[in-house]
Amino acid sequence: MSIAVFASGSGSNFQTLVERSRMEDWPEPVSLLICDKPGAKVLERAEKLGVPSASFAPKEYPGKADYERDVLHLLRLHRIKWIVLAGYMRLIGPVLLEAYAGRIVNIHPSLLPAFPGKDAIRQAYEYPVKVSGVTVHFVDEGMDTGPIIAQVPVAITEDDTLESFAEKIHQAEHSLYPDVVYQLITGKIRPPVPLSASEK
Ligand code: GRF
Repeated sequence: MSIAVFASGSGSNFQTLVERSRMEDWPEPVSLLICDKPGAKVLERAEKLGVPSASFAPKEYPGKADYERDVLHLLRLHRIKWIVLAGYMRLIGPVLLEAYAGRIVNIHPSLLPAFPGKDAIRQAYEYPVKVSGVTVHFVDEGMDTGPIIAQVPVAITEDDTLESFAEKIHQAEHSLYPDVVYQLITGKIRPPVPLSASEK
């Protein structure tokens, strides 16, 4: 059993997860990248790191369920137990939510429930708030709405630019996400719904 990361963009969180999982010899490795944006930088990172990847074009499917059924087939072939979203710019639909109930997590660059959705770093900076941060949460059918697992605050100081603040957010993500995923796969964090017997 192992972990699949889903990503659409740059993949810095994906890379950090892979590196930490190898450094610490995790019981369940990151063994698959699912990407829904052909040509995304994260695919290059996967190749360099030697992690198998699959690139999908969801628009070529009649609907989300058809796309997710293909993804699910691949996840089962790779014996994936956990889905870790890292900059995956798409809502998870019922096919994957049912198959992976309680086993999908996401990272979001704000202190949820503040600033959900796209461009959360900019939204917080422009509001402007004094403190924003990073949230890791279980995934449900909503946009950044599932049960919160962990949060860390990140201050916006007087001399921060959007870029320097974004950099602090990403550093916080790279430190928090591997810690949370490790605790999840080692049973220190319990999923919010019962896992089926075969998945325990
Ligand atoms: C991160 O800020 C993450 O919180 C958000 O999307 C961004 C992905 O960055 N969901 P990267 O692709 O991991 O560099």
